[in-house]
Amino acid sequence: MDRERLTELAFKTMGKRKSHLQREKGYIFYHCERVAKIALHLREALFPADASSDDVIFAGALFHDVTKGIEPHAATGAHLVQQLLQGYASDREIQDVSEIVRLHNARLREDQPFYVRVVQDADILDHFGSQEVWLKFLYGAHKDESVFDAVRLWESEEHENYVDKSRKSLNFELSRQIFDKKLQFHRMFAQRFKAESSGEIDF
Ligand SMILES: [Fe+2]
Ligand SMILES: [Fe+2]
Repeated sequence: MDRERLTELAFKTMGKRKSHLQREKGYIFYHCERVAKIALHLREALFPADASSDDVIFAGALFHDVTKGIEPHAATGAHLVQQLLQGYASDREIQDVSEIVRLHNARLREDQPFYVRVVQDADILDHFGSQEVWLKFLYGAHKDESVFDAVRLWESEEHENYVDKSRKSLNFELSRQIFDKKLQFHRMFAQRFKAESSGEIDF
């Protein structure tokens, strides 16, 4: 597969589209592009001897949310990529890519192939760390929230549960390590943001 051509196709389908009211136009393209990179990183670290599925992982991640908003998007997306990728990949590859899209939210089933499981983890990881801040700020702008709404959310039990549930949905220990680092950054950021939002100076 030609990854550059695939990325152009992905941009054409998602690059200008607004998939969520509270997120910017094209969010889903950049999210998918990042998930593809994170998934390949996980594959290299976890299964260093097996690069045979890398094209499938790349394409599956790149299109996993292609029909976001047309729910259930895992099913509608799995269907769409079968047409979309004609001429970009072999029939066999298209089947595997479609499988990744179909199963990307069907987590924690050990019988799934590793090329599905790395994409599942990458998808979760892209919602945390600095990306979580971006998502909350965009949401806040959309809802006309104040800085204290973000402060309150990040201190809430609801947020604690969301973090906990997301961490428990990860397949691999390495993903949990990456998650914990992102979480550490976010906690530090949230604490500083809270102080600075109240005019405190933190040396
Ligand atoms: Fe999704
Ligand atoms: Fe996603």
